[in-house]
Amino acid sequence: MKKLEIPKNMHIAMIWAQDLSASLGDGKKIPWHVPDDLKYFKACTHGYPVVMGKNNYLSLTKALPGRKNVVISTSLEHLDDAQVVSSPQAAIDYLSDSDKIWIVGGAQIYKEFMPYAHELVVSYLDFCRPASIKAPKIDDSWIVNPKASDKKFRPQSGEGRFKVVSFIRRHE
Ligand SMILES: NC(=O)c1ccc[n+]([C@@H]2O[C@H](COP(=O)([O-])OP(=O)(O)OC[C@H]3O[C@@H](n4cnc5c(N)ncnc54)[C@H](OP(=O)(O)O)[C@@H]3O)[C@@H](O)[C@H]2O)c1
Repeated sequence: MKKLEIPKNMHIAMIWAQDLSASLGDGKKIPWHVPDDLKYFKACTHGYPVVMGKNNYLSLTKALPGRKNVVISTSLEHLDDAQVVSSPQAAIDYLSDSDKIWIVGGAQIYKEFMPYAHELVVSYLDFCRPASIKAPKIDDSWIVNPKASDKKFRPQSGEGRFKVVSFIRRHE
């Protein structure tokens, strides 16, 4: 993929939840129910633009409320509740006035934006629901930001517990 041109003032954050097998989902919907993690996701992303791939949008079935939704796809032409763009660069260009955007998946989209992200916010679940769609690898260019990370699991919510870990670039 051609290198993306990111505006200097744009902060790119990515957020996801993964199980003990690094699974994100089965391609249809997220195979767990952890309401407090959904609340956490909402609290982080509310009011900011969210960028997602077509498969993620289809799995959600509708746009995330309270956020400008941008869906990357070559096959969708139009959505009533979201802006469709044909590439990652088109998503960045469409949101060029935004100070902060959230990349909300799925796996293909995380992988494509990983080299450009400034922050990763990962919910680690304490159970296993093995599925085919996997979380992106976090390499050693990232370090944990202890100020924004949980030291231990949060209390049980729905099917399990989760711990939020925030990563920033090593050089930042
Ligand atoms: N656990 C979590 O936190 C979490 C978060 C988000 C998603 N998910 C799960 O992830 C799964 C979806 O992930 P996924 O990897 O299958 O799909 P995805 O990344 O959501 O979407 C892939 C689609 O996006 C479009 N796309 C991707 N790169 C593109 C590019 N460079 N240019 C133009 N279009 C591009 C293509 O659509 P076209 O075919 O139309 O071109 C492609 O088929 C779902 O199961 C969802 O539940 C889990």
